[in-house]
Amino acid sequence: MKFELPKLPYEMNALEPNISAKTLEFHYGKHHQAYITKLNNLIPGTKFENASLETMIMEAEGSIFNNAAQVWNHTFYFSGLKLDKSSEPQKQVDSAIKSSFGSYTEFKDAFTKAAATLFGSGWVWLVKNAEGKLEIIQESNAGNPLREGLKPILTCDVWEHAYYLDYQNKRPDYLNAFWNLIDWDVVEKRFL
Ligand code: FE2
Repeated sequence: MKFELPKLPYEMNALEPNISAKTLEFHYGKHHQAYITKLNNLIPGTKFENASLETMIMEAEGSIFNNAAQVWNHTFYFSGLKLDKSSEPQKQVDSAIKSSFGSYTEFKDAFTKAAATLFGSGWVWLVKNAEGKLEIIQESNAGNPLREGLKPILTCDVWEHAYYLDYQNKRPDYLNAFWNLIDWDVVEKRFL
C-alpha cells in the first residue's frame, strides 16, 4: 500500500501566531512527508506491504514501526488542532476529565508537566483506558499507546522539530500555545 500525505484540515497560517506557517511548512511539509516516503520505501517485499498503519504500529519493530507510528502520530496531531482560544472540552470529555483528574485545571497542569518533563523527543498522549477513564501517557520517540491497548484522544508532539523555529529551546512556551490550538470537537468524537 502506498501511503500519501493527508491534506491538512486548515491553511498553513491557520494556527498563527501559536504555530507559524513556517513551522507547518517544515513539520508537515517536510518531516511528516519524510516519514511517509521512508515507510513507502521500507515496506515493499515485507509482510507489511499491504498492512494498515495500525497493524504496523501493533506488530512491527525497528524502522517500519518508527516510520509507521510517526505517520499515524503526525496525522493524529495535526487533525486535532485548530486556532480556537475559547474552545473547551465538550460534554463527555469534560466529565471524563473531571472524574479522572479532578478538574480541567488539574488535568491541564498534569498534561503540561508530562510534556515539559519528557526527556528528549516524544509524544504526550491523553488516552481512554479499558475502564473508560482518562490517563496521560508519555511516549519516547515514535511511541504510540495503541500498543498498550489504550485509545488515544489527544496528543502533543514534543519533538524539537514541532516548535524550534517558533520557540527555539523554549518548550514551555510552545506548550502554553498548544492550549489555544486544541480542537475539542475532534477530541470529543475520538472519545465516544
Ligand atoms: Fe513531529
